[in-house]
Amino acid sequence: MSVWLLCALLFSLIGRTKQDGHLTTIKEVKVYAEETDTSEDGAWVLNVAWRDEFSENYVFKKISYEIEVFYTENMSRVHSETIHVMPNKTTFYHWKWTSPIPLQCTSHSVRLRHRDQLYVGEWTPLYTYNGQDLNPVEAMVYPRDQVFMIGSNITFCCIMETVSNVPYPPFGIQISNRTYITEPIHFYWHNESTTDIECVFKKGSSDASEGASVFIGYPPDDQNLTCITRDLSSVECHWERSTKKAQLIQRETKYKLNGRDCTFGQCGLPAMTKQVTKWTLVAKNPLGVKTLTDIADPTHRVKMRAPIQISHVAYARNVTLRWRWNEKNYASFPMICAVKLNGNFYKEHFSGKGLLALVLKNLQPFTKYTAQVRCGSNESFYEWGSWSEITEFTTKEDNPEAVDVWIQYFEQNAYVLWKSLTPQQSHGILTGYNITITNPKGGSQFDIILNTQLCYKINETNGQTITVQATNSAGLSPPSTIIAPSYPDNEVSISHINSSNGGFEISLEEYRCSTCGLVVEWFLTYNKSQCGVEWERIPKCDRGTWNKSDNLKPGERYTVSVYACSNDAPKLLKRSEGYAIEEKPGKVENLTGKNNGITIELSWNKVPLHLQKGFIQGYNVTTLLSGSEKIINNTVTKEHKVNLKLDPGSYIFRVSAFTSGGEGDYTMFKMEKENFDQVIAATIVGCSAAALVFIIITVLCYRKRKWLKKLLYPDIPEPKLAGKWITKGIYCTQMTEGYVKCDIQEAQSSEHPALSESLHGLDLISSNSKVPAHFYINFSESPVEVLYYPVEKLTSILENPSYNLTMPEPVDVPQISNLTLEMQDDYIPAPNFDQNNLVKDSESYKPQSTCTDEKLL
Ligand SMILES: *[C@@H]1O[C@H](CO)[C@@H](O)[C@H](O)[C@H]1NC(C)=O
Ligand SMILES: *[C@@H]1O[C@H](CO)[C@@H](O)[C@H](O)[C@H]1NC(C)=O
Ligand SMILES: *[C@@H]1O[C@H](CO)[C@@H](O)[C@H](O)[C@H]1NC(C)=O
Ligand SMILES: *[C@@H]1O[C@H](CO)[C@@H](O)[C@H](O)[C@H]1NC(C)=O
Ligand SMILES: *[C@@H]1O[C@H](CO)[C@@H](O)[C@H](O)[C@H]1NC(C)=O
Ligand SMILES: *[C@@H]1O[C@H](CO)[C@@H](O)[C@H](O)[C@H]1NC(C)=O
Ligand SMILES: *[C@@H]1O[C@H](CO)[C@@H](O)[C@H](O)[C@H]1NC(C)=O
Ligand SMILES: *[C@@H]1O[C@H](CO)[C@@H](O)[C@H](O)[C@H]1NC(C)=O
Ligand SMILES: *[C@@H]1O[C@H](CO)[C@@H](O)[C@H](O)[C@H]1NC(C)=O
Ligand SMILES: *[C@@H]1O[C@H](CO)[C@@H](O)[C@H](O)[C@H]1NC(C)=O
Ligand SMILES: *[C@@H]1O[C@H](CO)[C@@H](O)[C@H](O)[C@H]1NC(C)=O
Repeated sequence: MSVWLLCALLFSLIGRTKQDGHLTTIKEVKVYAEETDTSEDGAWVLNVAWRDEFSENYVFKKISYEIEVFYTENMSRVHSETIHVMPNKTTFYHWKWTSPIPLQCTSHSVRLRHRDQLYVGEWTPLYTYNGQDLNPVEAMVYPRDQVFMIGSNITFCCIMETVSNVPYPPFGIQISNRTYITEPIHFYWHNESTTDIECVFKKGSSDASEGASVFIGYPPDDQNLTCITRDLSSVECHWERSTKKAQLIQRETKYKLNGRDCTFGQCGLPAMTKQVTKWTLVAKNPLGVKTLTDIADPTHRVKMRAPIQISHVAYARNVTLRWRWNEKNYASFPMICAVKLNGNFYKEHFSGKGLLALVLKNLQPFTKYTAQVRCGSNESFYEWGSWSEITEFTTKEDNPEAVDVWIQYFEQNAYVLWKSLTPQQSHGILTGYNITITNPKGGSQFDIILNTQLCYKINETNGQTITVQATNSAGLSPPSTIIAPSYPDNEVSISHINSSNGGFEISLEEYRCSTCGLVVEWFLTYNKSQCGVEWERIPKCDRGTWNKSDNLKPGERYTVSVYACSNDAPKLLKRSEGYAIEEKPGKVENLTGKNNGITIELSWNKVPLHLQKGFIQGYNVTTLLSGSEKIINNTVTKEHKVNLKLDPGSYIFRVSAFTSGGEGDYTMFKMEKENFDQVIAATIVGCSAAALVFIIITVLCYRKRKWLKKLLYPDIPEPKLAGKWITKGIYCTQMTEGYVKCDIQEAQSSEHPALSESLHGLDLISSNSKVPAHFYINFSESPVEVLYYPVEKLTSILENPSYNLTMPEPVDVPQISNLTLEMQDDYIPAPNFDQNNLVKDSESYKPQSTCTDEKLL
């Protein structure tokens, strides 16, 4: 009994102290999950509300509570926090806690206690919010079908239908009899917005599974709301998304523009006021809300629509473009229009009220064009409108441009030639060329229509005026005139032109300014062909250099001429020849050698002109020992012959020409070098025999001198041959055209045969050349020089002999021992006018007959 009393006393004591210290009493605690649209599929926020009826003498300005949250079944504490609030007896305090797992996963219990600087109150009982694991009908996974921000860490739970079922990882942590959770799963960015989580568990003898899907994304991030008008009566607003990723949750985003529902990107407002207007766009998705605004006067935000039904009227050099407008408000709207012609902006703009046409000028005739038009506001320009459709048109034909005319002389004929016109220059389809040839005396005029020919032969060239005009359907081109120069122009000497960088270069500084500039002409020197001339006009007073390096053939000699262009016939100023690129030359010809005392004299003919391939710089002569192929000597010469001092023996000689382009193939010659001592001996014997014969003749002549005198002086018989006698026994006969055969005949006693030396081996090749040809007849030291002239002049010269013919003086016998008859014939071929060539290297032709043993014996 006393024990009970004691107990009652103690309790009342404790209660009293409690009442005194416990100035507060936590009451009406409520625990509930916050409800949202998606809280059924996963509630994350736990709300706790309570009231506190603290006593009147509670003095503190702030009141603090400790709050703890547990998993009810497990009784493990998942959160604890101390909060501070203003004391208020009448209102409920609210506290929210966001759980790391959905509240459905398991039951959560909450308890609170009061605490301040002096005193810690007692815990309230546990208040529980029940989870779905108490009476599950089936297995469930939370959260499900919810939207999360990219980068979130989400913990999933799997509730088992029965206690005995256990899921496989990742559901590895048990937090209640039936609930298992994962570690937080981090949702990275990946291209799929939906992620599935599967909870697999053993159900009886087989596996079963339950799953959930979640969506990941961003809150709305739309940008750049811009509102414009296109038809001047309604408004169109546009906006964009900042990132491509944000599109993933776009289907979740809802838009409202000034309260009207819209779909993404564009939204129209039917009415428009002509004053400053504000437009507001609200974008909202499960992860957030974004508001965009735009303020403007719509009349300053005009983006015109495209002109329609665009058409054209084309002339040769201009076109009129016409179109219509679909918007009736445009009829009086001041606008500016731009054109895109062949993809490029036409430099001019066109403006006017309700513009419906424009004219494009300076077009190329007979050319296909495409055009497009767009317009914008001319008063407060904001942006260009849309492009019209592309219209295609072709300008009409117009007279062709003037052709570039030149003249060529080739094989006694003259040709007028001209360059073809490019499509840009012909202004249409060329139908032909009209050539007019006017004689200087005001004579006849010929009109010729040719089609594609670019070269025309003219019969005479004595200052005619030749005019060439191209024609097309629109008419004739301006006339291009050239006055034919009187026959070829050889008044300038021909120089060499060196190649520079594989072409030719001519400095124009040295030429005076002529009325219409200069013409540089070039053609192949040796392979000249009819109409095969190229030329280039250099405009009046153009200084600097002319150069040409493309389309030139290597190893071909070119003749390059500079003409002054004038109102009269073109005048040749300079002519030169050269190779654009020198190549190695061909072989030398007719390589021969002969023993010449102690030396061997090798001689050859030069490489034929068309095979030279460059300017011959010299010849490379290599001497090899026959049989052993050993090089004995190598020498370089500029002459066409060389004397080589060699020991007696058998040799091979190789001669090759070289140019700056390299050394050509060699020509080979093989011969023996005789022993000079034997030659001397043979010569002495031979000449002694000759001397003996001469002495005998002299003696005979002396004995019969009277008879000889009688025979020679009194009556000289009249010559009966067809040719003409040249005094003192030189007799020439005209053979075929251009050839003369001459004989030297000396008066002899009838007892002795006339000593006649036929010269027909020395037939003079005498063309129409105006250059004299001559030869020497040389008896010992006393020369007999005869000058020969071309056939047409020969007679007059013979009538008035101006040449000097000297008979040999009687000579002493020993001096005669080395009698030689030497004739020389140097002739220079006539310049080849056809080819306008350089005077060719003079060719020396020096036959030499030496008094050798064979000849005298
Ligand atoms: C307590 O809260 C009520 C309702 O919010 C308010 O009207 C009252 O002034 C508050 N009392 C104190 C002391 O702040
Ligand atoms: C998620 O977890 C990772 C570590 O796993 C951490 O670095 C990251 O900050 C967390 N993200 C958030 C939003 O808490
Ligand atoms: C209770 O849950 C915690 C996780 O919060 C876990 O670590 C612990 O093992 C659980 N205890 C029991 C007995 O289930
Ligand atoms: C959890 O399981 C244990 C042991 O099986 C049992 O005693 C307890 O009542 C269960 N709790 C609930 C809430 O079912
Ligand atoms: C929005 O407008 C600004 C400025 O005009 C521009 O720099 C930005 O690129 C625009 N944003 C998008 C997504 O186009
Ligand atoms: C366009 O060209 C035609 C024919 O050449 C000419 O008659 C017309 O005047 C030109 N129009 C304009 C606007 O220049
Ligand atoms: C060729 O030109 C001459 C002179 O300009 C002219 O008289 C003649 O009619 C033209 N011929 C043709 C077919 O155009
Ligand atoms: C050229 O000569 C030929 C024939 O002699 C003659 O038919 C032609 O009309 C002449 N042409 C000129 C332009 O003199
Ligand atoms: C080489 O000799 C032949 C025969 O004598 C002659 O026809 C030819 O023109 C000569 N060649 C040269 C390049 O002089
Ligand atoms: C001349 O020929 C020799 C031997 O064939 C060669 O070595 C040399 O280079 C040549 N010289 C010239 C200048 O071509
Ligand atoms: C080759 O021969 C020429 C002429 O005989 C001579 O001038 C030259 O010195 C010789 N060269 C050599 C290397 O023997």
